[in-house]
Amino acid sequence: MTKTPKAAPPPPAPPRPGPEHKGFYAEFFGFRERPFTLLPDPELLLWSRQYRQAFSVLEFGVVSRSPITLLTGAIGCGKTTLLRELLSRLDTSMTVGLISNAQGGRGALIQWVMNALGMSFDHNAGYVHLFQAMQDFMIAEYAAGHRTLLIFDEAQNLSQESLEELRMLTNINTGKDEVVQLLLIGQPELRAMISQPKLEQLAQRIAVSYHLEPLDAETTGTFIMHRLRAVGGTGAEFTEEARDFVYQVTHGVPRLINQFCDMALLYAWTQDSPQVTRQILSRVLQDNIFFAAQIKAPLTLTRQDSDPAVTAKGDPA
Ligand SMILES: Nc1ncnc2c1ncn2[C@@H]1O[C@H](COP(=O)(O)OP(=O)(O)O)[C@@H](O)[C@H]1O
Ligand SMILES: [Mg+2]
Repeated sequence: MTKTPKAAPPPPAPPRPGPEHKGFYAEFFGFRERPFTLLPDPELLLWSRQYRQAFSVLEFGVVSRSPITLLTGAIGCGKTTLLRELLSRLDTSMTVGLISNAQGGRGALIQWVMNALGMSFDHNAGYVHLFQAMQDFMIAEYAAGHRTLLIFDEAQNLSQESLEELRMLTNINTGKDEVVQLLLIGQPELRAMISQPKLEQLAQRIAVSYHLEPLDAETTGTFIMHRLRAVGGTGAEFTEEARDFVYQVTHGVPRLINQFCDMALLYAWTQDSPQVTRQILSRVLQDNIFFAAQIKAPLTLTRQDSDPAVTAKGDPA
């Protein structure tokens, strides 16, 4: 990244990052902290209509004792963030096991589950023995007034064997009471995985499900302004044209919006620009090959007035 040449006399150099200056550009813009960090911060959450709906559906699934609740959405659309919110507000009487990114073949799933529930077990014990121990644990918890909720994040990575074991897990439920409920979270392909005929019994138990879409253009603009204001900004640090451009490039995927906007503020700071403009965003794209590589949709680079603009394929360039 290069700084633009300035006419003399040069303005004072922007504050340099150091141990005492972790906010980089934050002070320059009057922010309490960087608005587009990827760290979870409830204050930075935008409760868009879709996000509220998704949260209500998840909460409903858990509270209404749906045997399986399914949440899907593309990478970076806010699934894990939503899950964190749910966990922070969940009825504390539930016994919760969170399994993120479980992998492995037959028998592995039970061990992941036991680990997540804080159970100790003999690694050499056979499958039947482990399953029995896990079932006994859940039934004892249930008798003590604690339903078990098992959450599988990144569930699209579960092996075929593990998916079949999930079905076995729901068999623990007898009669009309739910001893154990599952919350499956994953990328869109998870739906297809569960729809295979072999897993029909599992699919039939999904009583509640939701698919999280990327943000639309208007909500992307609201998202950007919301995060700017949440850290003490005015919301006008990005021009309207810049906000539209962020949408065109990121297609409304929150993680990409955050990365793009964070870099854009950094660039604006190094250029002493109080506002992020479309030109600054174009510059970020030009320089930041790692960010650009994450943009899934095919992009067409065009040159306008020596300013490289990026438009999604199909858009008039
Ligand atoms: N509604 C939202 N409001 C604010 N930030 C969001 C929202 N949804 C997602 N994000 C941000 O987007 C990033 C990716 O979210 P994450 O939950 O990790 O996505 P996923 O699990 O779907 O891959 C996180 O930094 C998160 O803070
Ligand atoms: Mg995630």
